Amino acid sequence: MAQKEVNVAVIGAGVVGSAFLDQIIAMKAPIKYNLIVIAESKNSLISEDYSPLQLDSNWSQTLSNSKQETLPLEKLIEFLSKSPLPAILVDNTSSAYIAGFYPKIVESGISIATPNKKAFSSDLDTWNKLFSGNPGNGLVYHEATVGAGLPILGPLRDFIQTGDEVEKIEGIFSGTLSYIFNEFSTATPNDIKFSDVVKVAKQAGYTEPDPRDDLNGLDVARKVTIVSRISGLKIESPTSFPVQSLIPKPLESVESVDEFMAKLPEYDDELTKLKEEAAKENKVLRFIGKVDVPNNKVSVGIEKYDYSHPFASLKGSDNVISIKTKRYVNPVIVQGAGAGAAVTAAGVLADAIKIAERV
Ligand SMILES: NC(=O)c1ccc[n+]([C@@H]2O[C@H](COP(=O)([O-])OP(=O)(O)OC[C@H]3O[C@@H](n4cnc5c(N)ncnc54)[C@H](OP(=O)(O)O)[C@@H]3O)[C@@H](O)[C@H]2O)c1
Repeated sequence: MAQKEVNVAVIGAGVVGSAFLDQIIAMKAPIKYNLIVIAESKNSLISEDYSPLQLDSNWSQTLSNSKQETLPLEKLIEFLSKSPLPAILVDNTSSAYIAGFYPKIVESGISIATPNKKAFSSDLDTWNKLFSGNPGNGLVYHEATVGAGLPILGPLRDFIQTGDEVEKIEGIFSGTLSYIFNEFSTATPNDIKFSDVVKVAKQAGYTEPDPRDDLNGLDVARKVTIVSRISGLKIESPTSFPVQSLIPKPLESVESVDEFMAKLPEYDDELTKLKEEAAKENKVLRFIGKVDVPNNKVSVGIEKYDYSHPFASLKGSDNVISIKTKRYVNPVIVQGAGAGAAVTAAGVLADAIKIAERV
């Protein structure tokens, strides 16, 4: 029997995209994954006759040397929709522009594997279009949009498809905020200031270039939107439920990152007080996303946990997600690295493999 083959187009060759390309090029698998497009914003490699690009571990140099301009997205979709083999688009960007084309991509019969949260946490209408299950549509897999490579969305969908009912999801969904709170609020007393931890996290490269993009809680809200929708809640958008921001109000409009970092220590008192109150109850503070399915309640913000709770003993920048269902009365707890090139890329590659096995 002839070996099964699929055509793969990869957009984005940054942190995750590079690791993805290293992994897929090195992979030995029963299915043949033919890379036919690799694109960044400006330059790209495209095999116009759909024959596999000849790539090795030096692919990055080959891409840099390429004189081929990146196709406009409409043209790329047209090209992939005519692929003689099933086509998989791997979007390793964080682009909202590309995410806006997902419904069209799927309706063109092209499947998508991606760590890009934008499409799945935008409006509910887009979500419904992506998972309509219309015959002829491409498949959509996005495990790495929540918890990077950790198995969260796949098992959650399996629970539901087999007739289980999700009751509660609770978790630390942000590696950055995990690190910040694990350092700030510990089971042994400390007098570390919140602003000092943010400063260290920024210097170590754990935060976004502007730490307010982590502290505003929106990244967690996007992930919570995704797990809520899979659990059956009709969440309109990541701003349609309460999200606590850790940015002091007066610093929201401060223009430069340097000024924000310089002024943050002026607002340490409130969180210090909260930490001390928690310590009196033998509790720590953690930044949590919570989904209560039977009561249709979703929220993001600071919660207190007993020293003995699994969330209290978290280390480094790990994520931890607890899922309680009708069948799993004692919650399933998934814990581990929730960011990083290799684990995230492996999550995306595993999705591409699932698609290739199904198409
Ligand atoms: N890093 C992690 O640990 C992690 C964990 C979980 C999920 N994710 C998700 O993974 C995705 C990628 O993250 P990353 O850290 O790899 O980002 P990154 O290093 O900034 O890389 C982004 C890549 O996308 C390309 N790109 C952006 N817009 C494009 C466009 N319109 N057309 C073609 N190429 C475009 C960029 O190319 P140019 O430089 O040419 O613009 C670059 O190669 C994001 O959605 C992120 O949220 C990342």
